[in-house]
Amino acid sequence: MKFFVDTADVSEIRALSETGLLDGVTTNPSLIMKSGRPILEVTKEICEIVDGPVSAEVTAVGFKEMMREADILSKIADNIAIKVPLTMDGLKACKALTSDGRMVNVTLCFSANQALLAAKAGATFISPFIGRLDDTGLDGMELISEIRTIYDNYDFETQILAASIRSVNHVKQAALIGADVATVPPAVLRALVKHPLTDKGLEAFLADWAKTGQKIA
Ligand code: G3P
Repeated sequence: MKFFVDTADVSEIRALSETGLLDGVTTNPSLIMKSGRPILEVTKEICEIVDGPVSAEVTAVGFKEMMREADILSKIADNIAIKVPLTMDGLKACKALTSDGRMVNVTLCFSANQALLAAKAGATFISPFIGRLDDTGLDGMELISEIRTIYDNYDFETQILAASIRSVNHVKQAALIGADVATVPPAVLRALVKHPLTDKGLEAFLADWAKTGQKIA
């Protein structure tokens, strides 16, 4: 499973990238707003840190304007994945951009049929929003599972990018189902490494080691 980080915070991205565990980055208009920085400037900086796909989202709702914005975003770096919303215009833009060799992430997916359309439009990534479905009382993970089955039925190459992840359990469930990618907020990504028994075990090893008076040298 690939790990993308869901943020436009450059210092977080740099720190996580240094761990070697990061395969890409996803941003959206809300995350750009949170960063407080101009989209082109901050996205360029992210692309310089991370070699993998960096999703940058168009903000237009009409096809023509989406294509114009996509053209500007594409010029930032070769590893830009254009993010388009799951609308008819977004799917049309997806088809045009992927036919042109661009990576496209179709976002705001809340149903299996929407994911089927995105795959037919040649999407590189489909982003089903787990947490936001859970928020409405539905089961976001069920959607990941349905999409996995549909994509496998037809050998679609579109990668399932589990998004709107809120917990370490979301990551585990998405991995068990076979999502190709999880885009994870920095705090959740860091929480994946934590286990109280690891901390306790390490503490005991270090205490015993100190008693030996030895050094590895
Ligand atoms: O990148 C989009 C998605 O991950 C947003 O998550 O927590 O705002 O629903 P959230």
